[in-house]
Amino acid sequence: MSARRLSRGAAAPGHRAPVAVGAAAATHAAETVRSRLGVRSPVAAIVLGSGLGALAERLADATRVPYAEIPGFHAPNVEGHRGELLHGTLAGREVLLLAGRFHMYEGHDARTAAFPVRVVHALGARVLFLSNAAGGIRRTFAPGDLMRIADHINLMFRNPLIGPLEPGEPRFPDMSAPWTPRLATLLEAAAGETGVALRSGVYAGLLGPSYETPAEVRMLERLGADAVGMSTVPEVIVAAALGMEVAGISCITNHAAGITAAPLDHAEVMEVGARAAGAFCALVERWVARL
Ligand code: HPA
Repeated sequence: MSARRLSRGAAAPGHRAPVAVGAAAATHAAETVRSRLGVRSPVAAIVLGSGLGALAERLADATRVPYAEIPGFHAPNVEGHRGELLHGTLAGREVLLLAGRFHMYEGHDARTAAFPVRVVHALGARVLFLSNAAGGIRRTFAPGDLMRIADHINLMFRNPLIGPLEPGEPRFPDMSAPWTPRLATLLEAAAGETGVALRSGVYAGLLGPSYETPAEVRMLERLGADAVGMSTVPEVIVAAALGMEVAGISCITNHAAGITAAPLDHAEVMEVGARAAGAFCALVERWVARL
């Protein structure tokens, strides 16, 4: 591609993000959401991963906007992702729920995948809860386990902050504690109170959509990863740049490839997610009550 074309704004693959999913676009999208839902001052925004949509049923006074009607959002194309932004109360506290994601493996760049975080921030949320389905790498993890995300490794080789610097954001955000210790403590306390066994570990984010090979899983194990998935990393990076506090849970839906001989498939991911949903909902609800 010629320098002239680049200077006129053509995208260099993987580098120049469309400006339509930056801070100004988030303010615009937030106005659209506000005109539809009675958002006042949410204590948290919660992203629901594959198979974990059941939390939406626990929302009181729920109102919703389909993603397709929010500028900059995309309707998810993956089973288990409903594609709605919901507003209501959980444990009596005002929350926003992002039921479903649009993923990088669907062809979105990292900035687009993390755009909903900018929008909930523009709606007033300063606490973000991220959930996902993940393959268990640590050998003591079993399908159905819930893992508090203590840290992550970005193996997506993309960063949602690449591109124009947004007003008020640091060019080089500190990532020494993006998974906020205060919220982790609250999550551990909520686990104790609800009797939910909560593991903790490091989440490795890969692009997907193919699952990993056994050799890749052995590599991830050596790198210090306890679980592997295909989301979450762009969102926590943007949240860190925005100064939000973040907590997260991976639902271990399967042993990662090669840990056992079993082949992996999305139906199993969905089924195990649904089985773990009761414990997941109880835990998140108690955590919200403690915020
Ligand atoms: N690998 C990547 N993503 C996943 C997995 C996995 O094993 N399980 C659920 N999401």
